[in-house]
Amino acid sequence: MFVFKKIKFGLLLAFSLFLFSCLETSIINTSVSPDKSLKLEIHSENNSIYYSLYKNNKPIIDKSMLGLKTDKFEFSNNIQILGISKSSKNEDWTQVWGEEKIIKDNHNEVALNLLSLDTNLKMTLRFRLFNDGLGFRYELMDQNGLDEYNIMNELTEFNFSEDSNSWWIPAYAYRRYEFLYANTLISEISRDKFSELVEYLNGPRIGPEAVQTPFTTQRKDGITIAIHEANLTNYSSMTLKADGTKNMTCDLIPWSDGVKVKANGALNSPWRTIIVGNNPSEIVMSTLTLNLNEPNKLENTDWIEPGKYIGLWWEMIGTNQSSWGSGPHHGAKTDKVLDYLEFGSKYGFDGVLVEGWNLGWDENWCCTGDGEDFKFYEPHPEFDNKKVAQVAEDLGIRLVGHHETGTQIKNYESQLEEAFKYCQDHGIRVVKTGYVNDGSQNIKRIDDNGDLHMEWHHGQYMVEHFRKVLETAAKYEVSIVVHEPIKDTGLRRTYPNMVSREGARGQEFNGFMPTDYNNKPNHTTILPFTRLLSSPMDYTPGIFNLKEYRYNSNDDRTINKNHHIPSTISKELALYVVIYAPMQMAADLPQNYEGHPAFQFILDVPTDWDKSIAINGEIGEYITMARKDVNSDDWYLGSITNEKDRSITVSFSFLEPNKSYNATIYKDPNGGGWLKNPEKVVIENMVVDYTTLYKMNLPEGGGQAIKFTPVK
Ligand code: NOJ
Ligand code: CA
Repeated sequence: MFVFKKIKFGLLLAFSLFLFSCLETSIINTSVSPDKSLKLEIHSENNSIYYSLYKNNKPIIDKSMLGLKTDKFEFSNNIQILGISKSSKNEDWTQVWGEEKIIKDNHNEVALNLLSLDTNLKMTLRFRLFNDGLGFRYELMDQNGLDEYNIMNELTEFNFSEDSNSWWIPAYAYRRYEFLYANTLISEISRDKFSELVEYLNGPRIGPEAVQTPFTTQRKDGITIAIHEANLTNYSSMTLKADGTKNMTCDLIPWSDGVKVKANGALNSPWRTIIVGNNPSEIVMSTLTLNLNEPNKLENTDWIEPGKYIGLWWEMIGTNQSSWGSGPHHGAKTDKVLDYLEFGSKYGFDGVLVEGWNLGWDENWCCTGDGEDFKFYEPHPEFDNKKVAQVAEDLGIRLVGHHETGTQIKNYESQLEEAFKYCQDHGIRVVKTGYVNDGSQNIKRIDDNGDLHMEWHHGQYMVEHFRKVLETAAKYEVSIVVHEPIKDTGLRRTYPNMVSREGARGQEFNGFMPTDYNNKPNHTTILPFTRLLSSPMDYTPGIFNLKEYRYNSNDDRTINKNHHIPSTISKELALYVVIYAPMQMAADLPQNYEGHPAFQFILDVPTDWDKSIAINGEIGEYITMARKDVNSDDWYLGSITNEKDRSITVSFSFLEPNKSYNATIYKDPNGGGWLKNPEKVVIENMVVDYTTLYKMNLPEGGGQAIKFTPVK
C-alpha cells in the first residue's frame, strides 16, 4: 500500500484586535480542496466569523455564520483571531470491514485560534477540505474558567446559494427516522408540507420545523450537496431548522430542560459536514464522514466478523404467523429455533436471529415506552438457551441476540454487563438492539434524585446511552446492529463492532403495512443518496414471497389480501449490492428459499468489499452499484429502479482489463415488474469483459443483480 503523509504546521497569519473591530467584511482566509474543486472562504465581520463554499468556482453555500452560545460564555461576537494555521494530509488507512478496504484521507486543514474578548476563553475553529466536501468543528480546550457549562445554541448556518430540490424526513416527529422521504424545494420544508405529500404527522407538533440529517439537495446544475455530521460524541444530534427560505440553521435536539448540550471542560463538537459531488453518484462514494472520525480504538478485532444471517423474525413482523410473546403461536420455541439453525448451517449462514427468546414481551410494551419488564439474560421457558447454544456450536453457526428495550433505558442499563456477558457465554457475537417508542419527546430518564424527565430519542442523553451500550458490547466481544438508533456519524471507524443500524424505513414496513402505506418502489432509490451516506443499514432485503404472504392474525390464518410488497425478487437481490451492510439478513422464511434458484445469489454475495463504485444514479429514480469482493476477484452489480420502467446501459469497465468473466444475471422477465410477475426471475449466463456495454431493462419497481467470476 502506498502511504504518503505530509503534515506541515505553520502560523501563517496573526491578526490584531483593532483590525477586526471595524465593521467591514473581510475574507481572512481562502483554502481549497486537494483537487482545487472546492474553495472555502472564511470571513470576519463585526468580530463574528462566517464561512462560504464554492464548487468549481460557483457559490454553493453563501456567507453563513459560525458560533456557540452557552449559559456562561458566547463565541459568536467580540471574537479576536489570535492566529491561523494550515496543514495537509494524504494518508491511506485500512478498514476492518466496509465498502472499501483502503480509504484515502486527503485533506487540507485550516484552524483559527479564537479568543472571546468578553470572557478571555479560547476556542479553535477547525476546517478540513476534502475533494468530497468540507468538515468543520468547534474545539474548546481545557483552560481556566471552563468547567461546567450548558450549550444553549449552536449558531452554525448553512445558507444555500440556490433554493434547490431536496430530499428530507422531518425531525421532532413521532416515529424517529422511519419515514418515507419528502421531495420539495428547501424553502418548502415544513411538517404541513410533509403531511400533505408523504404522511400525516400525528401527535403534538412540538419542536421547531426541522429536518434530520443526512439532508440532501441537488442544484439545477446537478451539483449535489448533503449536510450531515461526523463523530457525534458527548453532544446532541444536529437537525437543520428550516425557515421558509433557502437558508438552514443547525438545531440541536434539546434535553427536557431546554439545554442543548451539558458539558464540563474541554469539548470538541461533532464535525459539521457538507458532502459535495458533481452529481448524485459522487456523493454516494464520499468517505469524508469516516475520515472525520477517530481511528479504531479496539485492540483486537478478530472477533468482528461480517456475514449473513437468517432469522426467526419475518414470521412475526411479516407473515403474522407467530408472536414474540407467550401463547400458542410463540415463535422462539426451542425446536423451531433448532430448525432455523439447521437450515442456516446447511447453507453456510453465519447467524440466526431469534426474537422473542427472552422475558418481557408479554407486557404491553409497544410502543409507548412503558415496557419495563424486558430481561436481557433470562430466556423464555420455551427457549432452551443451553441446548440452542450447544447445537449452534456443533453446527458451526451462531445465534444473533436480540435486545428490544422499548426505550426503557434504566432497565436496560441496569442489566448491560450481565446481558453482554450472557452473549459471550452463549457464543453470541452479534446483538440486534431495539428502541421502539412511537412518541416524540417520550424517553424516560430518571435523574439522581429519582425524578422523571422525558427526553427526545436523539438528544445527548441517548447519544451517551448508545455509546455505553457499544463500549459494553465491545468488552464482551459483541458487535451490535441497532434498530431505532441514533443516526450514524461514522462511529464504525472508531468502534468496528458498530456493524449496522436501521435508522430509516426498512423492509419491516413492507411486512406489516398494507400496500398503500408500505415502502414505495422509489424509497430504495432515495436511501443511497440520503440515509446510506451515514452508514450501513440493516434494511433486511431478500423477500421472495412478495404477495399473499400475511395472515390476518396469529389465530386467523387466512391471507390478508391488502399486503403486496412493491418489489420483485430481482430487485430484492440487487438490494444486497445497493444497500451496504456488513451483516446482511436474508429476511424471508427458509421455506421460500429452499430449492429456489435465485437463492444462490444471496448465498454468494459478500458483505465485505474491496472496492465499491456508484456507476450511475438519480435520486428517487434509479441507481447502479458495483462492488468487488474483498476475498476473491469476483465482482457484483446491483441496479434498481423506482416505479418507472427504464433501460440503462452500463459499461463493465470496472472489471479488470484483459480478463474474461462469467456473468450470472438475475433479472425480471420481459413485461414483469412489481405488479406483474414480481416473483419470476430469469437467470442467464454470459461471458463479458471490461469492454462490454450491457443494456439492462428494468421494469416498474424492478431490479437486476449480476455476479461476475473470472473465467479460469
Ligand atoms: C422494530 C424493529 O425494527 C424490528 O426489527 C423488531 O422486530 C421489532 N422492533 C421488535 O423488536
Ligand atoms: Ca424499526
